[in-house]
Amino acid sequence: MMQPKMFAMMGGLAGAVLILACTTQDMPENREGAAIYAENCAMCHGATGRGNGEAAAGMTPAPADLTLLARDNGGAFPVSRVLSQVDGYLKGEKGGDDMPEFGALLEGDLVPVETDDGVMTPTPRPLAALLAYLETVQR
Ligand code: HEC
Repeated sequence: MMQPKMFAMMGGLAGAVLILACTTQDMPENREGAAIYAENCAMCHGATGRGNGEAAAGMTPAPADLTLLARDNGGAFPVSRVLSQVDGYLKGEKGGDDMPEFGALLEGDLVPVETDDGVMTPTPRPLAALLAYLETVQR
Protein backbone atom coordinates (compact mmCIF):
# COMPACT_ATOMS: atom_id res chain seq x y z
CA MET A 1 0.00 0.00 0.00
CA MET A 2 1.22 3.52 -0.73
CA GLN A 3 2.05 5.84 2.14
CA PRO A 4 0.05 9.10 2.53
CA LYS A 5 3.35 10.96 2.12
CA MET A 6 3.76 9.41 -1.31
CA PHE A 7 0.31 10.60 -2.34
CA ALA A 8 1.11 14.13 -1.23
CA MET A 9 4.28 14.09 -3.29
CA MET A 10 2.47 12.87 -6.38
CA GLY A 11 -0.15 15.57 -5.90
CA GLY A 12 2.56 18.18 -5.73
CA LEU A 13 4.15 16.89 -8.90
CA ALA A 14 0.86 16.93 -10.77
CA GLY A 15 0.33 20.51 -9.60
CA ALA A 16 3.75 21.58 -10.83
CA VAL A 17 3.08 20.04 -14.24
CA LEU A 18 -0.29 21.81 -14.43
CA ILE A 19 1.24 25.20 -13.63
CA LEU A 20 3.94 24.67 -16.25
CA ALA A 21 1.35 23.71 -18.86
CA CYS A 22 -0.67 26.83 -18.10
CA THR A 23 2.17 29.32 -18.17
CA THR A 24 3.59 28.03 -21.44
CA GLN A 25 0.20 28.06 -23.12
CA ASP A 26 -1.47 31.17 -21.78
CA MET A 27 1.02 33.94 -22.28
CA PRO A 28 2.67 34.05 -25.68
CA GLU A 29 6.15 35.48 -25.42
CA ASN A 30 6.82 38.98 -26.53
CA ARG A 31 9.27 37.97 -29.25
CA GLU A 32 6.58 35.77 -30.76
CA GLY A 33 4.39 38.84 -31.25
CA ALA A 34 7.34 40.91 -32.43
CA ALA A 35 8.09 38.38 -35.16
CA ILE A 36 4.47 38.32 -36.29
CA TYR A 37 4.44 42.12 -36.38
CA ALA A 38 7.67 42.26 -38.39
CA GLU A 39 6.27 39.81 -40.92
CA ASN A 40 2.75 41.19 -41.35
CA CYS A 41 2.60 44.81 -40.30
CA ALA A 42 6.04 46.46 -40.37
CA MET A 43 6.12 47.06 -44.13
CA CYS A 44 3.38 49.66 -43.66
CA HIS A 45 3.37 50.59 -39.98
CA GLY A 46 7.16 50.65 -39.70
CA ALA A 47 9.66 48.56 -37.76
CA THR A 48 8.87 50.46 -34.57
CA GLY A 49 5.15 50.94 -35.28
CA ARG A 50 5.26 54.65 -36.02
CA GLY A 51 3.59 54.37 -39.41
CA ASN A 52 6.68 54.87 -41.54
CA GLY A 53 7.19 51.48 -43.17
CA GLU A 54 8.74 51.07 -46.60
CA ALA A 55 5.37 50.63 -48.29
CA ALA A 56 3.84 53.62 -46.48
CA ALA A 57 5.27 56.34 -48.71
CA GLY A 58 2.47 58.05 -50.60
CA MET A 59 -0.22 55.86 -49.09
CA THR A 60 -3.55 57.62 -48.49
CA PRO A 61 -4.66 57.40 -45.80
CA ALA A 62 -1.26 56.86 -44.26
CA PRO A 63 -0.78 53.80 -42.05
CA ALA A 64 -1.60 54.68 -38.47
CA ASP A 65 1.07 55.26 -35.84
CA LEU A 66 0.44 52.16 -33.75
CA THR A 67 2.50 53.44 -30.82
CA LEU A 68 -0.14 56.09 -30.14
CA LEU A 69 -3.14 53.78 -29.89
CA ALA A 70 -3.27 53.90 -26.09
CA ARG A 71 -2.57 57.64 -25.88
CA ASP A 72 -5.37 58.37 -28.33
CA ASN A 73 -7.70 56.17 -26.34
CA GLY A 74 -7.35 57.96 -23.01
CA GLY A 75 -4.34 55.88 -21.98
CA ALA A 76 -5.92 52.46 -22.38
CA PHE A 77 -4.71 50.15 -25.12
CA PRO A 78 -7.81 49.62 -27.34
CA VAL A 79 -7.77 45.83 -27.65
CA SER A 80 -11.15 45.57 -29.36
CA ARG A 81 -10.29 48.23 -31.92
CA VAL A 82 -7.07 46.50 -32.92
CA LEU A 83 -8.84 43.16 -33.07
CA SER A 84 -11.57 44.51 -35.32
CA GLN A 85 -9.02 46.25 -37.56
CA VAL A 86 -7.12 43.00 -38.09
CA ASP A 87 -10.43 41.19 -38.45
CA GLY A 88 -11.38 43.66 -41.17
CA TYR A 89 -8.15 42.83 -43.02
CA LEU A 90 -8.91 39.15 -42.68
CA LYS A 91 -12.34 39.56 -44.20
CA GLY A 92 -10.96 41.73 -46.99
CA GLU A 93 -12.89 44.79 -45.83
CA LYS A 94 -9.77 46.84 -45.24
CA GLY A 95 -6.64 47.33 -47.28
CA GLY A 96 -6.02 46.79 -50.95
CA ASP A 97 -4.26 44.31 -53.15
CA ASP A 98 -1.01 44.94 -51.35
CA MET A 99 -2.36 43.55 -48.09
CA PRO A 100 -0.41 40.52 -46.97
CA GLU A 101 -2.06 37.24 -46.13
CA PHE A 102 -3.10 37.36 -42.51
CA GLY A 103 -4.62 33.89 -42.45
CA ALA A 104 -1.76 32.48 -40.39
CA LEU A 105 -2.72 34.84 -37.57
CA LEU A 106 -5.81 32.76 -36.99
CA GLU A 107 -4.01 29.45 -36.70
CA GLY A 108 -3.12 27.89 -33.39
CA ASP A 109 -4.71 27.34 -30.00
CA LEU A 110 -7.18 29.79 -28.53
CA VAL A 111 -5.91 31.75 -25.55
CA PRO A 112 -7.97 34.14 -23.42
CA VAL A 113 -7.53 37.83 -24.21
CA GLU A 114 -9.20 40.49 -22.08
CA THR A 115 -11.02 42.96 -24.31
CA ASP A 116 -11.91 46.53 -23.34
CA ASP A 117 -15.13 45.58 -21.58
CA GLY A 118 -13.25 43.14 -19.34
CA VAL A 119 -14.59 40.07 -21.12
CA MET A 120 -12.15 37.23 -21.71
CA THR A 121 -12.34 36.44 -25.39
CA PRO A 122 -10.81 33.25 -26.81
CA THR A 123 -8.33 34.50 -29.40
CA PRO A 124 -6.01 32.58 -31.72
CA ARG A 125 -2.57 32.50 -30.15
CA PRO A 126 -0.69 34.39 -32.94
CA LEU A 127 -3.20 37.22 -32.79
CA ALA A 128 -2.98 37.32 -28.98
CA ALA A 129 0.82 37.47 -29.23
CA LEU A 130 0.58 40.33 -31.72
CA LEU A 131 -1.77 42.25 -29.41
CA ALA A 132 0.52 41.72 -26.43
CA TYR A 133 3.47 42.96 -28.46
CA LEU A 134 1.65 46.05 -29.71
CA GLU A 135 0.72 46.91 -26.15
CA THR A 136 4.42 46.98 -25.23
CA VAL A 137 5.28 49.56 -27.93
CA GLN A 138 2.77 52.17 -26.70
CA ARG A 139 4.33 55.49 -25.68
C1 HEC B 1 -0.51 47.43 -46.69
C2 HEC B 1 -0.24 48.32 -45.57
C3 HEC B 1 -0.69 47.86 -44.18
C4 HEC B 1 -0.38 46.70 -43.53
C5 HEC B 1 0.47 45.55 -44.03
C6 HEC B 1 -1.00 46.78 -42.23
N1 HEC B 1 -1.68 47.96 -42.11
FE1 HEC B 1 -2.68 48.60 -40.48
N2 HEC B 1 -3.26 50.28 -41.48
C7 HEC B 1 -2.84 50.62 -42.76
C8 HEC B 1 -3.42 51.89 -43.11
C9 HEC B 1 -3.22 52.62 -44.44
C10 HEC B 1 -4.19 52.32 -41.99
C11 HEC B 1 -4.97 53.62 -41.84
C12 HEC B 1 -6.18 53.64 -42.67
C13 HEC B 1 -7.33 52.93 -42.06
O1 HEC B 1 -7.69 53.24 -40.90
O2 HEC B 1 -7.91 52.05 -42.73
C14 HEC B 1 -4.07 51.26 -40.98
C15 HEC B 1 -4.69 51.28 -39.76
C16 HEC B 1 -4.48 50.35 -38.77
C17 HEC B 1 -5.08 50.40 -37.45
C18 HEC B 1 -6.09 51.41 -36.97
C19 HEC B 1 -5.47 52.40 -36.05
C20 HEC B 1 -6.55 53.21 -35.38
O3 HEC B 1 -6.29 54.37 -35.14
O4 HEC B 1 -7.62 52.65 -35.07
C21 HEC B 1 -4.62 49.34 -36.75
C22 HEC B 1 -4.93 48.97 -35.32
C23 HEC B 1 -3.73 48.62 -37.63
N3 HEC B 1 -3.68 49.24 -38.87
C24 HEC B 1 -3.06 47.48 -37.28
C25 HEC B 1 -2.34 46.70 -38.16
C26 HEC B 1 -1.74 45.44 -37.78
C27 HEC B 1 -1.78 44.84 -36.40
C28 HEC B 1 -1.14 44.96 -38.90
C29 HEC B 1 -0.43 43.64 -39.06
C30 HEC B 1 -1.19 42.46 -38.75
C31 HEC B 1 -1.37 45.92 -39.97
N4 HEC B 1 -2.11 46.96 -39.47
C32 HEC B 1 -0.90 45.80 -41.27
C33 HEC B 1 -2.02 49.89 -43.57
C34 HEC B 1 -1.50 48.65 -43.28
